[in-house]
Amino acid sequence: MDIGGFVNRRKKGFEQQLLMLKELANNPRDMGTLCPSSDALANKMAEALSPRMMKKGMFVEIGAGTGPVTSALIRRGVPTERLMVIEKSPVLAESLSKRFPDVDVRCRGAEELGSCLEGFPPVRAIISSLPFRSLPEAVSLAIMSEVERALSCGGIFVQFTYALIGEMPFIPASFRKVRSSVVLLNIPPAKVEVFMKPKRMEPEGCQ
Ligand SMILES: C[S@@+](CC[C@H](N)C(=O)[O-])C[C@H]1O[C@@H](n2cnc3c(N)ncnc32)[C@H](O)[C@@H]1O
Repeated sequence: MDIGGFVNRRKKGFEQQLLMLKELANNPRDMGTLCPSSDALANKMAEALSPRMMKKGMFVEIGAGTGPVTSALIRRGVPTERLMVIEKSPVLAESLSKRFPDVDVRCRGAEELGSCLEGFPPVRAIISSLPFRSLPEAVSLAIMSEVERALSCGGIFVQFTYALIGEMPFIPASFRKVRSSVVLLNIPPAKVEVFMKPKRMEPEGCQ
């Protein structure tokens, strides 16, 4: 058994938990959670991306926090040069940049998604850990309108929620739910939902 590796992983996990608690104390509405996402939850989110989908285009993670989902996306095979991570907290964005030096980490609000993506190829998937239920409604609406615009036709939007029952709020009417699964191995248990932007829309709605 690799005891050194085990101790290192525990230490990193503890540091990330501490970072999250500090940010929670400073910005409770932005964080919306006490604990980093578990590997089980992060892996379930990454599973929404098929190897075929990863052959081209951009992949964007919004609200990456301490980075468990970023890590799962890379393990899943998302090429780091086509992965952009948007995290509003300067402390967390700096920690993400150090942990994932090959990934384009932007310390911005997801409301600015469109301007972050100027000049980049079409976006195949947006993976979100944003706490839409605790963010101000106007912010959630602004972000989802950016998501709808930025995603290419046939692209997917992946979101988790702690509300196991009921529909996710703020999902654009044109999006179709393609998958929903509950992950019990997380504190608290969570639901991962995958939505698809329709393949064919009005010309100005597609990239
Ligand atoms: C639920 S936490 C992230 C959970 C993450 N999966 C983890 O385990 O660390 C939500 C994250 O969204 C970030 N956030 C909140 N509002 C944001 C916004 N408007 N744009 C980008 N990030 C935002 C917060 O700073 C926080 O890191």
